[in-house]
Amino acid sequence: MTVSAPLLITFDSVWKSYGEGEACVHALAGVDLAIRRSEFVAIMGPSGSGKSTAMNIIGCLDTPTAGTYRFMGVDAGRLDRNRRALLRNLYVGFVFQGYNLLPRTTAAENVELPLIYRGVSARERRELAMQALAQVGLVGREHHTPAE
Ligand SMILES: Nc1ncnc2c1ncn2[C@@H]1O[C@H](COP(=O)(O)OP(=O)(O)O)[C@@H](O)[C@H]1O
Ligand SMILES: [Mg+2]
Repeated sequence: MTVSAPLLITFDSVWKSYGEGEACVHALAGVDLAIRRSEFVAIMGPSGSGKSTAMNIIGCLDTPTAGTYRFMGVDAGRLDRNRRALLRNLYVGFVFQGYNLLPRTTAAENVELPLIYRGVSARERRELAMQALAQVGLVGREHHTPAE
């Protein structure tokens, strides 16, 4: 990695608060963060320290209460839902703690789903899904559901 690699993810004094008044919790209180292209970063901390809250913001599933989150220079916190969905679809891979795979859907179809939203043809999506599954050693399991 070169020192001059472009910034991919930046937090500028990001706050995330849940609830109001007495029940208000500041899950993130003025967090600064800078991650450059091709860096591999682990966010670690005790339960309740705000890791999931930060990940949800980085993954564009949620927006900051205050401060600025920029993804590839774009102020993602100010994008509307549809634009955030587009940004996720094109640029973000997100593995949830509970996976969130579709239970009655095969491995190939689970992998293909975001490509359907992206408008990729059926033939190309199947090909891309098969390649992706092969990369993680799932050849032979393409037509199995998650529980299988
Ligand atoms: N939807 C929510 N409503 C209210 N409080 C929340 C919500 N999500 C998280 N919190 C609170 O925010 C803090 C940070 O939570 P979280 O980001 O889940 O931490 P971690 O992932 O590090 O365990 C905790 O105090 C948690 O109880
Ligand atoms: Mg968590």
